[in-house]
Order: sequence, then C-alpha cells, then structure tokens
Amino acid sequence: MQIISDPKELQLLMLNLKAEGKTIGFVPTMGNLHEGHLSLIELSKNKADVTVCSIFVNPLQFGQGEDLSSYPRTLKLDIQKLSAISTDYLFTPSEKDIYPLGKEIHTHVIANRLTEYLCGKSRPTHFQGVTTVVNILFNIVQPNYAFFGKKDYQQYKIISNMVNDLRIPVEVIGGEIVRESNGLAMSSRNGYLTDKEKQEAAILRQVILQAAEQIKQNQRSFDDIIQQSINTLSHSGFKVDYFEIIRQSDLHPADRDDSDLLIAVAGWMGQPRLIDNIEI
Ligand code: PAF
Repeated sequence: MQIISDPKELQLLMLNLKAEGKTIGFVPTMGNLHEGHLSLIELSKNKADVTVCSIFVNPLQFGQGEDLSSYPRTLKLDIQKLSAISTDYLFTPSEKDIYPLGKEIHTHVIANRLTEYLCGKSRPTHFQGVTTVVNILFNIVQPNYAFFGKKDYQQYKIISNMVNDLRIPVEVIGGEIVRESNGLAMSSRNGYLTDKEKQEAAILRQVILQAAEQIKQNQRSFDDIIQQSINTLSHSGFKVDYFEIIRQSDLHPADRDDSDLLIAVAGWMGQPRLIDNIEI
C-alpha cells in the first residue's frame, strides 16, 4: 500500500491512472478503522480497479463541545488493517493540506436539502463540514465510485444529493451496516463505551427491530410505536435524541401509506452519541 499525504501528488497519480483506463474506488474515513470501514474497502475492491482510502479527522464537521480533540487517532493500527486487505493507496492529508487558508475562510459547500432533520437538529453545522470536505476529497481523488456506510444514513443521502445537484461524476454507493455480536452497529465512537454500557447499548438494535416488526405487521400508528420505543430506550439508560419513522427518499416523517421507510434513532449511552437505523 502506498501512503500519500500531498494532495497534488495523489491527484496527479489518480489522473494518470484514469488516463490509463483504470477505475478508482474511494472510501473516505476519519480513521480508527473497524469492520464497517473494511467492508467498504472490500466493496470498492470488487467494483474498481484501484482503491483509495483517506484518513482525515475533519475539524469542520465537529461542533463546539464535541469530541474533536479526543477523537481516536490510531494511524499505525489503521495502516496495518488496510495493508492486510491489500488497499492500494492511503491518503493522509494534514489540516493545512485540506484547508490551506484556514477552515473558516475556505469555500464551504452547503447542502440545503435534508440537513435540518435528524442529526442536523442537534448538530447544526455538522453536515456542512461533511459536504465541504467530501467535495475537496472527491476533487483530489477523482473517484468513479465512493463508498459510505449506511449507519450514517443521513450523511449517505446528503452526499448522494450533493453529487446529483452539483453534477459530480461519482457514483455514491451505500454499504450495509456491520454489527458487533450483540447487534450494536460498529462505530469508532463505540470505543468510548465501558463494557457494561456496550452490553446495555444492544437495546438500541432490539428496539428498532421491534418497531420494524410492528410496522411490518401493519400496525400503522407510528406515533404510538415511536413513543413506546422512546420509553423503552429511556428506561434502559439511553438518553434519546430522536427516534423517527421517516421516508427513505426525503427523510420526512412517514405517513401511514408510505413505503420504503427508515427507522432512525440517535442518543447517548453514557458519553458517546450513538446512531442506528433500519430500512423497511
Ligand atoms: O463518515 C465519516 O467518517 C466522515 O463523515 C467522512 C465521510 C469521512 C467525512 O469526513
């Protein structure tokens, strides 16, 4: 695996590979890689000739009081994991490489649609940070395909819309959620959980599955299902941010007759804010 931190060097390399007719698959990450990330690398390896992973803890997507300074940085271990599955390139830019003039005065990409719902309510500047950095990374890496985990379903949808709206020639592909043995969705932030909290956090998946089952059984009082689910989670030590039943297409609250639904949940178990979802 070749490790490159200079954006110009990587961009030139990618342009040359594409000129040779090679397709590029890209998995952007913030590091602290787990099985979820590695499953995206595998998807990319199956789809594209060349796979690039980036590791950049993007300061622009962290709000005031969030965990930017304590976010787990495990580059050595990440390199071992990526090498072990034969990733072709790892891009590790510095903050100055990405925002040479400073992140505040850098051009920002504002995704208007879908950012004010779900996680956007409690993290109002988060998605602007994501769309800005993903745009910069796309322009450096020049991928044909880009892979995003569907645990961050809202991010996946916002980036898909951005690519459509701005006519960016990249195919955005969502990867299925990878879970711990107790059902907890894998996340870099799971490392903040104590062993006890990790066990307790399994309730998140159980409650989502229960709600999904009720919907499949045609119990269509969504308000009741939502309230019941919030109560169960709250009694299990989970501080609920939201529990919503929405349409996959536009993330709006679903009506009784809608199909292609998503149950999405977020909240705090101890210190970390966890999210999870299920497509129905
Ligand atoms: O999902 C993430 O890890 C980040 O939001 C991303 C897409 C790498 C942008 O910083």
